Amino acid sequence: MKKATAFSLAIALTGAAFITSCNNNQTTTEKMETKAGITKAAWGNTDGKDVFLYTLTNAKGVQVKISNYGATVTSWVSPDKNNKPSSIVLGFDSLSGYLAKPPYFGAVVGRYGNRIAKGKFKIDNTQYTLATNNGSNALHGGLKGFDKQVWDASTENDSTASLLLSYTSKDGEEGYPGNLKVTVRYTLTNDNELKIEYNATTDKPTVLNLTNHSYFNLTGDVSNSILDETLMIDADNYTPVDTTLIPTGEIKPVKGTPFDFTKAKKIGLEIGAVSGGYDHNFVLNKKDSSLQKIAALKDSISGRTLEVFTTQPGVQFYTGNFLDGTISTPGAKKINQHAALCLETQHFPDSPNQPKFPTTLLLPGEQFHSVTVYKLSVN
Ligand code: BGC
Repeated sequence: MKKATAFSLAIALTGAAFITSCNNNQTTTEKMETKAGITKAAWGNTDGKDVFLYTLTNAKGVQVKISNYGATVTSWVSPDKNNKPSSIVLGFDSLSGYLAKPPYFGAVVGRYGNRIAKGKFKIDNTQYTLATNNGSNALHGGLKGFDKQVWDASTENDSTASLLLSYTSKDGEEGYPGNLKVTVRYTLTNDNELKIEYNATTDKPTVLNLTNHSYFNLTGDVSNSILDETLMIDADNYTPVDTTLIPTGEIKPVKGTPFDFTKAKKIGLEIGAVSGGYDHNFVLNKKDSSLQKIAALKDSISGRTLEVFTTQPGVQFYTGNFLDGTISTPGAKKINQHAALCLETQHFPDSPNQPKFPTTLLLPGEQFHSVTVYKLSVN
């Protein structure tokens, strides 16, 4: 069977097939289950807890793999315009890749995704101090954030491509107040959407900023730079930052600046004018917390488009500036600067210290709820 047609024929004729899949250049031949639903495989052990790898398959045979270690998306394999399957996210084949602490590949980050200045914030005049793990600031939940925890998982019904992950973050963990119960539900729909629903409750006032930290390269090959991909972000404003990437507190128009992605443009077009590359929070134009389309990423090599929908007020657009070739894909390709990008839907960085930003405070009795959908298509 020709590689280019394996994907569609596998679904149409056999229900299962051996295909060549490329996890950002790790080329493996594996059995591709085409039965829609979810399967579970043992994936190791850490912190005395069992880790599993779940495979979500939709009716089109598209597969997303997710581990309960860090609630991490490890691969998303779909066909390109020539029907050649490859993964559009950075990820590893084994738990050891994640235990080596890559920069949050595919993980859910929390309790507070993004930065908190000097690792300090106040709630009702009580000062809280977090570890500073990014220069003088706190980043992505601390030394052992949600990305490094083993979550509980339940699949409810193995004919649905849906996985529910839960984690209880103890009062005082990483310096944050309140026992926080978090759930994240991943669903892979038959329209090739990966839907991520976050819920949380607390027993003491706390701050919360949850996001998924997938690194996308729509070509499925890290040797292609994402600077050639085209991006639209529906944001007329962004939050400028200081040299440590902490917002200055201003909300500035993107018009006339390299931050203007209101009309789709090549990511590399004006990146040279942005010191260090894009690593900024965009203030989305959406006016409420309904689920709306906020970004679209396109790649001409693969013909793939990724649309992003969210209920959140912001998105951190990060062009993989700190990727420097020290980490390789399972297929031994170096992951260089700009080999992948993140579109992290979220509240704004350092909100606990920025009274003018939408609040990230969560109080006892309140239910935190947010939804983000990444929708993949190919033309
Ligand atoms: C941040 C980057 C950081 C990366 C990996 C992104 O969310 O904005 O500055 O290097 O995560 O930690």
